[in-house]
Amino acid sequence: MNTVKQVLGTKGNQIWSITSDKSVYAALEMMAEKESGALLVVDNNQLVGIISERDYARKVILKGVSSTKTLVRDIMSTRVTYVTPEMTIEECMALMTDKRCRHLPVMDNDRLIGVLSIGDLVKASIAQKEFLIHQLENYISGDFTAA
Ligand SMILES: NC(=O)c1ccc[n+]([C@@H]2O[C@H](COP(=O)([O-])OP(=O)(O)OC[C@H]3O[C@@H](n4cnc5c(N)ncnc54)[C@H](O)[C@@H]3O)[C@@H](O)[C@H]2O)c1
Repeated sequence: MNTVKQVLGTKGNQIWSITSDKSVYAALEMMAEKESGALLVVDNNQLVGIISERDYARKVILKGVSSTKTLVRDIMSTRVTYVTPEMTIEECMALMTDKRCRHLPVMDNDRLIGVLSIGDLVKASIAQKEFLIHQLENYISGDFTAA
């Protein structure tokens, strides 16, 4: 499992999103229900931002504003870093580190086809390394029968 496309093949293409005119409270309810740390913000089928637990902590809690009166558009991040299906796990992890984000929308041309989180990439990276170790162990032991 090396590419975004392969990871989505395992994780699935579900996308949890909200419109920018909803309240932050509604976004938190949806994150809790989906056990997710972030939602894509999609208006008229266009990806316009991303809202995360971190946005809530820093732009609502720390500012002492109301989550029911504050709208998603007021605190969402509009500079969204996205990836494409042919990119590798390593490229995605480097992007997450560089951009300090933990969720990456996946775009295929202009179509939103999924979301990858840091947990998905860590899991895929571990599976990749375990497969490699297994191959190397077989090679060292000369046991070419074990796939
Ligand atoms: N065992 C697994 O398959 C697995 C996969 C991912 C994360 N996790 C664990 O969950 C915890 C938190 O994970 P995280 O930090 O990666 O973030 P997270 O809690 O936001 O993500 C959890 C899962 O929900 C999915 N998800 C999150 N937001 C989404 C959205 N808007 N649309 C569609 N899917 C969305 C992610 O892709 C991931 O598979 C960590 O402890 C991690 O290890 C486990």
